[in-house]
Amino acid sequence: MFHIDISKDLYLSIFERRHASDLYPLIERNRAYLSKWLSFPLYTDKIEDTIEFIDKSLERYSNNNGFWMGIWYKDQLVGAIGYLFIDWKAKKTEIGYWLGEEFQGKGCITIATQQLINYAFEMLKLNKVEINVAKQNVKSLQIPKKLGFVEEGTIRDYEYLQGVYHDRIVHGLLQTEWLNQK
Ligand SMILES: CC(C)(COP(=O)(O)OP(=O)(O)OC[C@H]1O[C@@H](n2cnc3c(N)ncnc32)[C@H](O)[C@@H]1OP(=O)(O)O)[C@@H](O)C(=O)NCCC(=O)NCCS
Repeated sequence: MFHIDISKDLYLSIFERRHASDLYPLIERNRAYLSKWLSFPLYTDKIEDTIEFIDKSLERYSNNNGFWMGIWYKDQLVGAIGYLFIDWKAKKTEIGYWLGEEFQGKGCITIATQQLINYAFEMLKLNKVEINVAKQNVKSLQIPKKLGFVEEGTIRDYEYLQGVYHDRIVHGLLQTEWLNQK
């Protein structure tokens, strides 16, 4: 199955059903922390929900419409990253990601995001990658900023999480900008 080796300690691997036994406990342990910014942990309350998520991700992969990969650090599942969709007409995608709380601060997301950006431009020949982040999500805002994305605007009250409306900041990186960075 699709796999990207990054370093001796870090690799990405597309989620398969057999990973549910690692993925579900990671979500369960981090439910409160992740739910501040993401909606899925609140409706992932049994392993069958995770299996359903993996099946949908594999379907997305076979339809050429994105996928989710596990982020493995020192042979432990630490988080997830993926293309939420692929718009082949506009040649663009959006990257989403999350980490277990205890695995923050090691650079896993920055490095994994860099890999998926390279893959989108080099292998898929897309024109644009987006990363969209809630305005108050300070840690996540650092990722597109560090990777040279342009802040393109704010969508007001984009999502409603735990009783709070969140504005969403849209960030984009064009293939030409990525080539100039290289
Ligand atoms: C957003 C989130 C993924 C960011 O995690 P993170 O640990 O800050 O990101 P990284 O894994 O890239 O690590 C970066 C940190 O590691 C440090 N680091 C260490 N080694 C590094 C390396 N080799 N390369 C890059 N950074 C490195 C950086 O200095 C940075 O630390 P700092 O935040 O203290 O400056 C995480 O906070 C999270 O999962 N939050 C909840 C879910 C969420 O918000 N998802 C995103 C929705 S848009």
